[in-house]
Amino acid sequence: MRVVIGVGGGIAAYKSCSLIRSFTEGGHHVRVIPTESALEFVGRATFEALSGNPVHTGVFSDVPEVPHVRLGQEADLVVVAPATADLLARIAGGRADDLLTATLLTARCPVVLAPAMHTEMWEHPATVANVVTVRGRGVTVVEPASGRLTGSDTGAGRLPEPSEIFALAMLLAERSDALPQDLSGRRVVVTAGGTREPLDPVRFLGNRSSGKQGYALARVAAQRGADVTLIAGFTTELPDPAAVDVVHVKTARQMQEAVRKFAPDSDVIVMAAAVADFRPATIAASKIKKGADEPDSIPLVRNDDILAGLVESRRNGDIAQATVIVGFAAETGDEQGDVLTYARAKLERKGCDLLVVNAVGEGKAFEVDDNDGWLLGSDGSESALGEGSKALLASRVVDAVVGMLAIQPSDHR
Ligand code: CTP
Repeated sequence: MRVVIGVGGGIAAYKSCSLIRSFTEGGHHVRVIPTESALEFVGRATFEALSGNPVHTGVFSDVPEVPHVRLGQEADLVVVAPATADLLARIAGGRADDLLTATLLTARCPVVLAPAMHTEMWEHPATVANVVTVRGRGVTVVEPASGRLTGSDTGAGRLPEPSEIFALAMLLAERSDALPQDLSGRRVVVTAGGTREPLDPVRFLGNRSSGKQGYALARVAAQRGADVTLIAGFTTELPDPAAVDVVHVKTARQMQEAVRKFAPDSDVIVMAAAVADFRPATIAASKIKKGADEPDSIPLVRNDDILAGLVESRRNGDIAQATVIVGFAAETGDEQGDVLTYARAKLERKGCDLLVVNAVGEGKAFEVDDNDGWLLGSDGSESALGEGSKALLASRVVDAVVGMLAIQPSDHR
């Protein structure tokens, strides 16, 4: 893929270096186009060395090659990180006074802008209007992260981690269209990762969930305009997604408590977490030792099924009837039935609206190797999610959720 990475003149320009690396390591052809002020933060030589290509800022370099037209026309993806308030204003105004803005006018591929600026600038009506304008033209403007800005300031306006921007940009390239703001005003709760059930102060029962699918769902929902709370168990040290409120929990019971707290105000609840079905009946106050007092066995007790509990609460009217509840199932087929047969039975049993089904282990043997998963609806619908990244899968699940919300008026507005 031919990728143009634009870099605006802000302190976050240094983070663009990691982004450039992610693309080159992924085998993509990268051209970096900084603004003149970006070069105040990161030198031209760094961008040239990282991308392996020459770096210009103005439209009068390399004139016979007409780069101000050609780079945009030939690009498969343009990512601008960081996009400063000034750069956003110039893009919104349709200016073409440097190589980056000229390239953005000639590009017809997906364009992703990742803003970074002080909170006051981000919230200023001029910037707000510029974001609306560029979004209206089909450009994806990433929601900035909250947190530490330059110096001691904190607030919204931080550039998301380069890995986040990379994942989103790749999703856009896969979808080949902008992310619609179709969840704007909606409240979405996503659980992700695995729970750990303690046995003593140093041991636990856990699982191998990476949390990646749930994090991808939270990220995509937030970038489609939702107000997202991510209830996260243990993951492979994933960074908090930008523009998402993250509540960290450890055990199934803590996750249940957090879900119960946020569920009544939610339009959508997605249970992507790998919740432990059992926990040790007692937690030893001190480390269990070998020897005379060692236990013969470890009694386990059942944890509540959070998903089934949510469906029950909706039936009882404790949460709104219009709340869309999504479950996940990892299935293997066996001699008694294939993956979809088991998944349909699970959907029925759990009573949720949508079930995201992944075939695991020997699942691929059931002549389904073109598919990475399915989405089953309580209305009997069944669609293949197809192969693709977890981000693409997340965006297809969100497409289905948006479809369900469209037919169910929200009780929360
Ligand atoms: N889940 C939950 N609470 C639990 C266990 C699971 O909410 N205590 C949710 C998961 O987040 C997921 C779905 O239920 O959305 C998975 O269902 P589950 O029956 O746990 O799947 P498996 O563990 O695959 O179950 P089984 O072994 O019965 O097939």
